[in-house]
This record gives sequence, C-alpha cells and structure tokens, in this order.
Amino acid sequence: MNIAIAQPDIEAAEVDTGRASRDQSWITCEDVSYRAGDGFDLVIPHLALLAGGKTALVGGNGSGKTTLLKLLLGDLTADSGTIALQGAARGLFDVAGRQALGVQLQDTGFNPVYRVRDIFAVNAACRPFVDPVILELMGIPEISRRRFGALSSGQKQRVQLALALAHHPEFAVFDEPTSNLDPAYEAAFVELLNRLSQEVSGFTALYISHAAKVVETCDQVLILARGRVETHAALQDVVRQTFGSRAALFEAAPEVLSSIAASLPQGCVLQRGPGRLRAFGEAALTDAALSLAQTHPLTRFSSWKTCAADILEDLNNG
Ligand SMILES: Nc1ncnc2c1ncn2[C@@H]1O[C@H](COP(=O)(O)OP(=O)(O)OP(=O)(O)O)[C@@H](O)[C@H]1O
Ligand SMILES: [Mg+2]
Repeated sequence: MNIAIAQPDIEAAEVDTGRASRDQSWITCEDVSYRAGDGFDLVIPHLALLAGGKTALVGGNGSGKTTLLKLLLGDLTADSGTIALQGAARGLFDVAGRQALGVQLQDTGFNPVYRVRDIFAVNAACRPFVDPVILELMGIPEISRRRFGALSSGQKQRVQLALALAHHPEFAVFDEPTSNLDPAYEAAFVELLNRLSQEVSGFTALYISHAAKVVETCDQVLILARGRVETHAALQDVVRQTFGSRAALFEAAPEVLSSIAASLPQGCVLQRGPGRLRAFGEAALTDAALSLAQTHPLTRFSSWKTCAADILEDLNNG
C-alpha cells in the first residue's frame, strides 16, 4: 500500500468530521463487477455496510475477499457499477478524515530501517490522537526501539494493527488481522475490538478472517465463493439456518459410526468423513448424542452449541 504522508495540518485535524448515524451505510456497492488478470470475475449486485455494524468477510482462498476490500478502498477500480464510501463525502482521505479510517492490509510494509517509534511519530503527524492502551495491548512499547525490518512476522502484524486502531477510527478494515499472532495477542486483539466498540460511537468494521474468535465478534457475515456473494446475513441467522442450534462429533470405527447415524434423532443433518461423523440439529440432538456416546466405543466425542466456528470449519472442508 502506498502511504501518502501529508504535511501536518493541525487546523484541519481539529475539524469535527461528524459521525455516521446508525441508519447510514459506510459503504454501498451497486452492480459492481471486476475482472482480474487471470479471468477471475468478482460480481457484487448489492452490498451495504451499516454504520455500527461488524461484518466478517469469509470464503476460501482465491474467492475474492482481498479484491473486494481493495475495490472498497479505491485501491482497485471496478469495471462497472458504483461504490460509494460514506466518509468520502466528508473528506475521508484528507487530514481530518484520516482520523476516521483504520486499515490493515496483508501486504503493507515500511522502510525496514525505521524504528517502530519512528513509524508511530510519522503517523502522529496526520493522526494526532493515540490511545496508549491500544499500544499496550499490541505490545508496542517493548518493541518501540527495534528496526521494523528486524521484527518477526507477528511483531510486524502488531505494528500494523496498532497503527490501524490507536487513533480510534470510526471505520476499520482488516485483511487477516490475526495472521501470525500468537494466542495471547489474538485474545488481546479481540479485547481491543471490544474496547473500540464501547468507546467509539458507531464503530464500524469489516474483517477478512479465518479466525473463529474474530468472526464471533461480528453481527453480520458475508460469504464469498468464486467471486460471488453466497450469503450476506446476520451471523446468528446463518449459523441457525445452516447448522441448527446443536452439534456433535463422533470418531470411531466405520461400523460403530453407521450404528450411531441410524440412532440419531430424525431431521439431523449428518456429515461423514473418514473415521468421523458430525451431526447438526436442535436441542434433542445433545441428549441423544450423550447417550450414544455412553453405549458405543468411541475414540473421540464432543458436543457443542453451534457457533461461528462451524461456518469456518465448513468452509475449510470445502
Ligand atoms: N494482481 C492480480 N493479478 C491477477 N489476478 C489476481 C490478482 N490479484 C488477485 N488475483 C486473482 O483474483 C482472485 C481472487 O484473489 P483474492 O486475492 O481476492 O482472493 P482471497 O479471497 O483474498 O484469497 P486468500 O484467502 O488466499 O487471501 C484469484 O483467482 C487471484 O488469482
Ligand atoms: Mg486475501
């Protein structure tokens, strides 16, 4: 990503940009299509991201997630259709407006000889407000004297995330925010999102993520498959309608799994794999599964309330 460093313009930075009201869309797409060089087509008939909403953008590798993000941010230009960025009308890309936007992309880089604190100093020129708690959560103080080029992948990711969020943006966009983060920093990132949701009125976010912990913070899910919108709906509705409310996993010999499959309540959806059986259904599934687990020789058993992780597991299994 090219970063244009504007001269500090304190007067402009103090201008109140106003807030997007909850019934406004931060981004609206109508009849958008884009053809990538290798013949891949992305087609978005309609998409509106409401102010205050948190949307998980999920799909398999090459489904068009990053391409869609780059179109939304103006990094790529659509072949047809319109993309309206609500903030653009109020100068999102000038010095004042930059305070309202936070972006973390997969391929961002900085001059490798800059120390981390230098990068934050340059950033402060156009985004003067910095929340020290967010820097702490991303472990920035302990690496502030290190050169960017000498950081590990996870440390570089933490710098990107802190830069995207420490100024309390109203609208934040992420491409795989937790890639390379260890579990402790993944949890810290989720805590940081909760903090922003509480402290920034109308905080709106779009996450490309394969991490269940991140997807669970969202209220909407947008599933892309081969450049097409397969689903865009409330996360809980997608989970309920796709999987029901309960799930169970059995691992055992094939004849044992056949016996279990025949004994589960009617209406359960069954997914079979080598040595394993997954069942989805409503509340009756849990009692039946527990009793079958006690009477059959299993190598592994678990049961759970269906959640965002089931959507991701389903995508991973193709
Ligand atoms: N610069 C490019 N030139 C040509 N084709 C491209 C380019 N960037 C992406 N594509 C193609 O567009 C399609 C979508 O790619 P995109 O990067 O949007 O996928 P993605 O869903 O973000 O995948 P991943 O999960 O791997 O990040 C792929 O077929 C890819 O090969
Ligand atoms: Mg991508």
